Amino acid sequence: MNFTDTVLVTGGAGFIGSNFVLSWMETLGTPLLNVDLLTYAGNPANLESVEADPRHLLVRCDICDTDHITSLLAEHRPQAIVHFAAESHVDRSIIAPDAFLRTNIQGTFTLLEQTKAYWQELSEPDRSSFRFLHVSTDEVYGSLGPDDPAFSETTAYAPNSPYSASKAASDHLVRAYHHTFGLPTLTTNCSNNYGPFQFPEKLIPLMILHALEGKSLPVYGDGSNVRDWLFVEDHCSAIRAVLERGRPGETYNIGGSSERKNLDVVTTICDLLDEMKPDPAQGSRRRLITFVKDRPGHDQRYAIDTSKIARELGWTPAERFESGLRRTVRWYLDHLEWVEKIRSGEYLKWIEENYAERLAP
Ligand code: NAD
Ligand code: DAU
Repeated sequence: MNFTDTVLVTGGAGFIGSNFVLSWMETLGTPLLNVDLLTYAGNPANLESVEADPRHLLVRCDICDTDHITSLLAEHRPQAIVHFAAESHVDRSIIAPDAFLRTNIQGTFTLLEQTKAYWQELSEPDRSSFRFLHVSTDEVYGSLGPDDPAFSETTAYAPNSPYSASKAASDHLVRAYHHTFGLPTLTTNCSNNYGPFQFPEKLIPLMILHALEGKSLPVYGDGSNVRDWLFVEDHCSAIRAVLERGRPGETYNIGGSSERKNLDVVTTICDLLDEMKPDPAQGSRRRLITFVKDRPGHDQRYAIDTSKIARELGWTPAERFESGLRRTVRWYLDHLEWVEKIRSGEYLKWIEENYAERLAP
């Protein structure tokens, strides 16, 4: 499918959303309406390079606000919606789940309801070519043992955290709107992303910045938990492939085929920084690694079977984990000003709340 009219993106000021917006403007360059509440995780500075571009419009809007969503749909007449907006951090969902239920469930429901009303009024061929792409997570499938097969699109849902439960609920709503109303939906379930513009509450940027500053590196439990890492640009190219060529009503798993233990990720970051920003007086940054109290309900392992998206859409990731991690460390070293700006009072409060007790002797 070709995209010539407006595409509406929710959550396009967050980590993956802003990478998607920037790559969309670079590759397709067609009009894009960016709808984002600008919570602590949404940062207009991520979009500085397209600030003056008339094809991109950022509107501050809560996806739970029915009237605002309705008027944006009526005014901008999008040919597709790519829905990233969510509360996304598992640890926050354990401490304060309310916002997760509100945005991830109620917000997705509001968006689906208003999109359905808008879509039902479209005439052909716009009605058939319309797409609603819901960006979701591999965490809906729960946790794997060391020898279990990777998650496929038919793996039963078994979410374990308030975050993944709220995402699972949103996936089910999207499925229901396709099944019941025929809304042309697509759902993607992706593994852990990393890369530029990731908020430093998540493992990789948190460890890069702590290591750089000589702070302790809080590894939950024994560090043996495994995640499958995907460079964010590869996630964006996968979403474009699903949007252009995916079959309505289908779900597609996306992953990097790069399973790593958390402890290995953290030691690699230490070694990269020792090489790229040596601090001989301090010695190896590995000494900063501190094993701390585990995340409650911590999923042991995620792994993704990407054979469906590879077979049907010809998508495979372009970046390898080692080179992608090096690029990411380089990006943070080159963007310390960006880091300083987002380390607001709210960020400092979160670090205190999540780590004070974990790091207590
Ligand atoms: P993020 O937390 O960095 O960004 C979320 C964005 O949503 C922010 O810009 C925020 O302002 C916006 N937002 C939050 N509540 C909103 C509301 N009520 N109305 C409008 N906007 C709102 O998240 P991310 O890591 O970029 O994740 C984006 C999406 O991808 C999420 O749906 C997440 O579940 C999914 N996902 C993330 C990963 C990952 O590794 N980060 C992996 C797989 C899937
Ligand atoms: O799998 C996809 C999911 O990946 C996305 O849906 C989520 O939005 C995204 O946040 C991410 O969830 P995780 O919980 O896997 O990511 P996080 O970066 O929070 O943690 C990665 C691993 O590192 C996890 O096993 C917990 C561990 N960890 C995390 C932090 C923040 C630590 O050991 N120490 C830490 O300080």
